Amino acid sequence: MKIKKVVLPVAGLGTRFLPASKVIAKEMFPVLDKPLIDYAVDEAISAGGTDFIFVISPDKKSIIKYFEDDPNLVHELIKKGKQELVDIVKPKISGSITTIVQQKQLGLGHAISLAKPFIKDEPFQVLLPDDLIMSDNPVQCQLADVYKKHKCGVVALQQIPQDEIHKYGVVSGKKNNNEIKIDGFVEKPQKQQAPSDLAIVGRYILTPEIFDELDKNIVGSGGEIQITDAMAGILKKQDFYGLKFTGERFDCGSKIGFLEAQIAFANKDKDIKQKLKSILEKYI
Ligand code: G1P
Repeated sequence: MKIKKVVLPVAGLGTRFLPASKVIAKEMFPVLDKPLIDYAVDEAISAGGTDFIFVISPDKKSIIKYFEDDPNLVHELIKKGKQELVDIVKPKISGSITTIVQQKQLGLGHAISLAKPFIKDEPFQVLLPDDLIMSDNPVQCQLADVYKKHKCGVVALQQIPQDEIHKYGVVSGKKNNNEIKIDGFVEKPQKQQAPSDLAIVGRYILTPEIFDELDKNIVGSGGEIQITDAMAGILKKQDFYGLKFTGERFDCGSKIGFLEAQIAFANKDKDIKQKLKSILEKYI
């Protein structure tokens, strides 16, 4: 199952990473030598993504530049005999790159709604690059398998401790192994109101009918237009599934999650792994 269109909402301010995020888009922060956004793009490509729609804020044009061809850099690298680096920097997106500038920060749902003219009548992927997921089978491929079975929207789910649940979209529904047939969504509930401990992680496959819901411009949690509310609206017309995915997720929107991601990815890197252990022992 190939889901060709991909929406990457990357207009957020990144307040948790100020001052660094003042001039560097938080999605460009690297885990080892690769920016977060690049991990998300690789994951989307593995699930068939070819046409990418980046919803950016006006100051995040560096993200687009990153995915464009850079003939001068390639020329310099070839001159220096560094062919292996040429392979690393060459453009990876095989189809189109569309840039949409979100002028006002009206929420994740609003950001996704701006992609409507480019989606037409196909299902599409949405990835939030802050959520970095290490998995042998990319999570978007796991979601695509569920989409193939049910032909409806799918979100990635993770069990989250009660004290953290207010930071997430939360679902209720009927479990069948790792699949959940969702019957309710709520964005950032207080722990007493949370319908379960299953939180939405930033990976979605959505059907184009979501735009009918987003067009209603419902203002939800935090005074923003939430994708979670649109998904709740669609339940009246379509099924919606959640998948407790296989993989390790790092919340790279937080300092501690970002740090853990560095350690986990370094621990997978054969050149760094050995030194990492002695460095960690030195400090802990
Ligand atoms: C967004 C979504 C939320 C989801 C979360 C996953 O929230 O609105 O439903 O659980 O991403 O990371 P944000 O973290 O942007 O506030």
